[in-house]
Amino acid sequence: MAELLTLTLKVNGEEKTFQAPAHLSLLRLLRDNLYWEVKCGCEEGDCGTCTVYLDGRAVKSCVTLAHACAGHEVWTVKGLGYADDLTAKLQKAFVECGSIQCGFCTPGMIVAAKHYLDHDGRADRKAIREAIAGNLCRCTGYQKIVDAIYNVACELSNNDLPHNSKLKTQNSRLGLSGSPLGGVAHE
Ligand code: FES
Ligand code: FES
Repeated sequence: MAELLTLTLKVNGEEKTFQAPAHLSLLRLLRDNLYWEVKCGCEEGDCGTCTVYLDGRAVKSCVTLAHACAGHEVWTVKGLGYADDLTAKLQKAFVECGSIQCGFCTPGMIVAAKHYLDHDGRADRKAIREAIAGNLCRCTGYQKIVDAIYNVACELSNNDLPHNSKLKTQNSRLGLSGSPLGGVAHE
């Protein structure tokens, strides 16, 4: 049995300490510790369904070593949905636009969309398609996903809000259970 090493990182705003072998992926660490909103697809970096927010960047957790994240800050779609207004807007838009069918790609897709809106955020369908190119969806044909992200981008620019959303201080709602999609449309 592989030796277990201690690592501490922040997950959804809470400092956590884990025991994990050196080779364990961030995806496996999260799922083994009940963060099931992070989906496991290919485990080869191809499908994007495992995408999480690591220090403000969307990363594929299946190809990220858990121990490389020691001391860093990880947010799953569920944590973001409670703590971040932009993610909550995206979740609502996905529901309203019918962007979810089986929902397997949705957590990763929303984190990728948040990354786009935080770092670029133009209401530009081509740019949105490029931003989610690393996230595969076998159900929707992508159009409704692009519509949802486009609508939020338009809303942000109409309201003249800054694109870089700030995570709200973690509140007690984080302790509440969310939907299987990671707290979609909880507002
Ligand atoms: S499970 Fe990570 S990219 Fe597919
Ligand atoms: S909704 Fe099924 S994979 Fe995207």
